[in-house]
Amino acid sequence: MADDFERMWAELAPIGRSSASGGYFRQPFLGAETELRAWFGEQVAARGLEVEADGVGNVVAWWDPVGVGAAAPALLTGSHLDSVLDGGAYDGPLGVVSALAALDLLRSRGVRPQRRIGVSVFAEEEGSRFGLACLGSRLATGALSWADAQELRDRDGVFLGDALASVGLPGATEGGLLDLSGVGTFVELHVEQGRDLVDRGAAVGVASEIWPHGRYRFDLTGEANHAGTTRMEDRADPMLTYAMTALAANKQARLSGSRATFGRVEVEPNGTNAVPSRVTAWLDARCASDAELADLVAVVTRQASERAERDGTALVVTAESVSVSVAFDASLARSVAVDHAGGDWPVIPTEAGHDAGILSAAGIPTAMLFVRNPTGVSHSPAESAELPDCLVGVSALADTLERLAR
Ligand code: GLV
Ligand code: MN
Ligand code: MN
Repeated sequence: MADDFERMWAELAPIGRSSASGGYFRQPFLGAETELRAWFGEQVAARGLEVEADGVGNVVAWWDPVGVGAAAPALLTGSHLDSVLDGGAYDGPLGVVSALAALDLLRSRGVRPQRRIGVSVFAEEEGSRFGLACLGSRLATGALSWADAQELRDRDGVFLGDALASVGLPGATEGGLLDLSGVGTFVELHVEQGRDLVDRGAAVGVASEIWPHGRYRFDLTGEANHAGTTRMEDRADPMLTYAMTALAANKQARLSGSRATFGRVEVEPNGTNAVPSRVTAWLDARCASDAELADLVAVVTRQASERAERDGTALVVTAESVSVSVAFDASLARSVAVDHAGGDWPVIPTEAGHDAGILSAAGIPTAMLFVRNPTGVSHSPAESAELPDCLVGVSALADTLERLAR
C-alpha cells in the first residue's frame, strides 16, 4: 500500500509545479489539470474500473460490486485535482490518490463490496478560474443550472463552455451531468488546512461541519487623473475606498471571530503616475453561521459605501459564490471517528469549503476525513503532509469504505 501511494504521489508531483515557488498551478481545463485527468484515466483503466464522465469534467470510476450490490445505494469517495493559484500539492489530489490507494487496499484484503464503490473527481472545486467554488459538484447536484454556468467567464473573458470545448468536453447539454441519484454516501479525504490536528497530536480527524462562506466582488469606480497635478482634495480615488474597506473587513472579522480576506485586486489602469479609475477587489468571508456571514458582509458593505461617499467614488457589491453552512451527518461522523485501533479520531469543524459540503447540502449522507498538516498552511506552496500520516489516512478511508460497503 505504501509503495502504491508513494508511486502515485511521485507521478503527480511534477505536474503543474512552479519551479519558482514550488507551488502548483492546476487551473481547470488547462494544461496541468488536463494532464492530471489523463493520469487519473490511466490509473482507473489499470484497475479495470468503469468510467462514467459527464460533459463538464466530473468523473466517477466504478468498482462493480458482487451480487445484489448493483441496486444498493452507491458509495462514492474522492476529491478534486484542480488547485488555487500557486497552491499546495495536497489540497484535492490527496483525496483522489488516497481513494485509489484505499480501493487497492480493499482488494488486497479480499473485500467483496455489497455496494458499488466509485472514485470521484469533481471539476473546478477551487473556483480559481471561473470564480464559483465547487462548480462541478454544484452542477451535478443541481445547485447550479447549466444555463447559469454558461454565463461564467474566466479572467481573460473565456466562457466556461469554450474552456470545456478546448479540452474536448462538450458541456452539460450534449455530455450530460453525473447522475448522483444512486449515491447513498460520499466520503472525501482531505489534507487538513489548519493546525487543529497538530495541536491534538492526531494523524487523522473527521469533519463535523463546514462554515458558510462567500466571495463578493467589490467594484469601485472613481476618476482617473494625473498623480502630480491633481490636488489631493480634488481626487475621486477608488484605491482609498478599497484600502479602507480592506481594513474594515479585517477589523469586523476580528471583532466577530470570523474570517475576511481580500486576496485578489485588479486596478485600472494600474499606472504608477495616475489616480486609478477603477479598483475591483474580491472579499472572501467566512463565519460560524449563515446569519453571521450575512451580517459581516452587510457591515463591511455599509462601511465601504460610507467611505465611497466621502471619496466621491461609486461602489457595487456582487455576490459571486455563496456556500451555506453544512453540518455533516453526525452519526456517520461518529462511526468514521471511532473505527480504529488507537481510539477515536477527533471530530472537528472546518472553515474551508469542499465538494463534500455541496453533496451533503444536496441530501447525500457525507463524511470527511482530514490528514494532519504539520505546517498548518494551505492554499500555499507550504502546505504539507507526512507520508506516515497519509498512510494512516488511506487505512482510515479503507476501513470506513469496507464497513459502509458491507
Ligand atoms: C476551498 O478550498 C476554499 O475553502 O475556498
Ligand atoms: Mn480541496
Ligand atoms: Mn482548497
